[in-house]
This record gives sequence, C-alpha cells and structure tokens, in this order.
Amino acid sequence: MNLLFLHTSSILGGSERSFLDLLNGISRDPSFELTIALPSDGPLREEAQAIAPQSRLARIPFPGYTERATQKNPWLSLLLLATAAAPLGRYIQSYKTLLQSRQIDCVYSNGIKCHLSSLLLRRFRDFRLVWHLQDFFPTVPYVRAFLNLHKRGPDAVIANSNAVLEQFREIMPKHWTPNLSTVYNAVDPNTYQPGRFESNEIVVTIVGMLTPWKGQHLFIQAATELSRLFPEAKFMIVGDEVYKTQGETGYKSHLQDLVRSGGIEDRVEFTGFVRDLSGIYARSDIVVHASLKPEPFGRVIIEAMSCQKAVVATRGGGVPEIIRDGVDGVLVDMGNASQLSAAIRRLIEKKDLRESLGRQARARVLSQFTSSHFSSQIIEILRCL
Ligand code: GLC
Repeated sequence: MNLLFLHTSSILGGSERSFLDLLNGISRDPSFELTIALPSDGPLREEAQAIAPQSRLARIPFPGYTERATQKNPWLSLLLLATAAAPLGRYIQSYKTLLQSRQIDCVYSNGIKCHLSSLLLRRFRDFRLVWHLQDFFPTVPYVRAFLNLHKRGPDAVIANSNAVLEQFREIMPKHWTPNLSTVYNAVDPNTYQPGRFESNEIVVTIVGMLTPWKGQHLFIQAATELSRLFPEAKFMIVGDEVYKTQGETGYKSHLQDLVRSGGIEDRVEFTGFVRDLSGIYARSDIVVHASLKPEPFGRVIIEAMSCQKAVVATRGGGVPEIIRDGVDGVLVDMGNASQLSAAIRRLIEKKDLRESLGRQARARVLSQFTSSHFSSQIIEILRCL
C-alpha cells in the first residue's frame, strides 16, 4: 500500500509523538510504502527520518495565511487572505504532483487543517482516507458547512479517546459512513520506566506546551501556596511556547512574572522544551496535568503513569478514560485552583499514597496503553480499508 502521511506541523507535541509510535510499528511492515509530507523542517522531521529512514519525506509548506488570518484586525486578515491565493494554489499543486508521482492509494491525516485539505485532494486522485483525530473538531459553522459540501468523507476515523469520537459523531455530516474507532495513545513501558533519582526534594512537575489552556498559571498559583508550607518542594515547568497563534505568545513571560511576584524564583524551574522526557519523569515525584478545557487525551499522563508517578489531572475530555480517580491517579475539576493545590498537597504529605497510586498507574499502563498494541490496531484499520 502506498501510504501518504499528512501533518500539520513539524513540532513535537503529543499528536506528533503518537504519530512517531505509529511510524515505528508501520515502518517494520514491508507491505507499506511510506511518504511523509510535513509543512516545514523541525524536530518531527528529524525523528521521523531516524525511525523510518526508508520513507520518502516531502516538504510542503502550509500557505502562511492559515495562522496569521486569525489576527484581530479584520482588514489585515482580508489582505492576508487576498495574498494567499497564489500560495494556496502552489500548495494544492504540490500535493497533486506528490499524489500522482507516488501513486498514493491511502492518505492518513493527522491534524485538523490536514483533515480539511485532504478532502480537497480527493479531486486529484481516488485514495482511501483515514483521519486520526487527536483533538476535538472545531464546531464553527463554516467548518461544518465545508464538511457538508463533501459527499464522501474519510473511510475511517480514529479518535484518541471516546470523548473525541463522540463529539465527532455529533458534528459529522449525516451522509458520511466512515468506520469509527477509538485507539488510545500508548507509550513504550521500557522507555518510560519507573525510577527516581536520589534526592531529598519533592519535585512536582507539569509537562506540556506553554499555552493558557494547559493551565500552567494554575500550577504556579498552587506552587506559590505550597512553597510556603513545604520547604522541600520544588516545581518544574517543562515545555515551551510553540504556536504563534494570536493570544498565545507572551504566555511564558506572564508565567515568569507570576513566579517573580510570588517570590518563588528559587523553587520553580523552567526547563524549556525537552525532547526526551524520561529523564524529567525520573526527577519527579508528582506529575500534574492542569488543562482548563477538556483534554482530548493527555499523552503526558500515560507517560508519567508508566514511570510510576502519582498523577493529578483535570477531569475533562479523555482524561477520565485513563485515570480512575483514587485508584491510579487523582482527578480534580478543570480550572479549580484550590482543588488542584489541595490534591498536590495531599500527595506531598502522603508518601504511601504517592507510591501506591504510582504502582497502580504503572499497572494500568501495562494493561491498556502499550505502544505495540497501539500501532497494530491502526495497521489493522488500514488493512481493512
Ligand atoms: C493532542 C491532544 C492531546 C493528546 C495528543 C495525542 O496533542 O491535545 O490531548 O494527548 O494529541 O493524541
């Protein structure tokens, strides 16, 4: 099968890391010829090349306006849209050439922009189409209208949680009949191993892109309160700003201001982007996930669980499908700073609880979320198309 992977960006976020897990499995299967289209150079490209050196990489930039058109000034947006016609034409043309020269018979798309453009590409070639939904689908009317314009949708839709799948089922055009399935993300339990570097500190860590909806500001609020109570507690913020979208830059400096005004500069470490997270988990005792809106899945949660860490996470989206509250982690309400800090406090105080949640968490990952299972499920879906 000549398979083309479409990707929204070359950064390394959760959905890209789950794609690398798939690539790892599928690249060992000689019945697939792989082509990977990426919009730019970046860590994802390097990792993909290392995992599947035999695959063909194509660099097809997204027309720039797709990001910048969200700017607040409507005149500027209009101007950007008007100047986007030529790049958009070139973009479509590059894909047309790629689809034909590589004789693509299946397209696997990862990311909303790619899902939408994959429908347009069907005009040039009749391929089987698989959408891997790693996010909730936008519900804005023009997106739904765009979907409805297409008689034929994807042949298969894979969601990273039942929450994401159910939301898609509701907004999907009624005349589409894809094969729908949930395939949970997974980790390699040998890479994400239990263990803790020797230390007298208690390290509480949050991992994820620095963006307001991931809730790092609530984490800092809890850190400010808990630093006073526990001199041995340290707080680690792992990740960086990635998206250039409106409203998302400047968040990192806002977080740094919060740390300064809370007087906890000596207790909080900003590590920046970290490619290999296993070392981060090995320095941590408690891992926090603080998303303010429903998290589609929450890949870092299973990474931390695999490393036998006690996890505090917010109850929304796919997260309750992973963590059973009080059994293999702790759930708190989204956006509730006092619940979040109370839950962290309990875990700082109770070593036994931390350890037993960690053990249960590891067992849960081993039974439900291992990567070999993940890629074989997706390969099976591709074979049945
Ligand atoms: C996206 C989602 C995240 C999920 C990841 C992998 O980044 O926001 O919740 O864990 O994809 O599916």
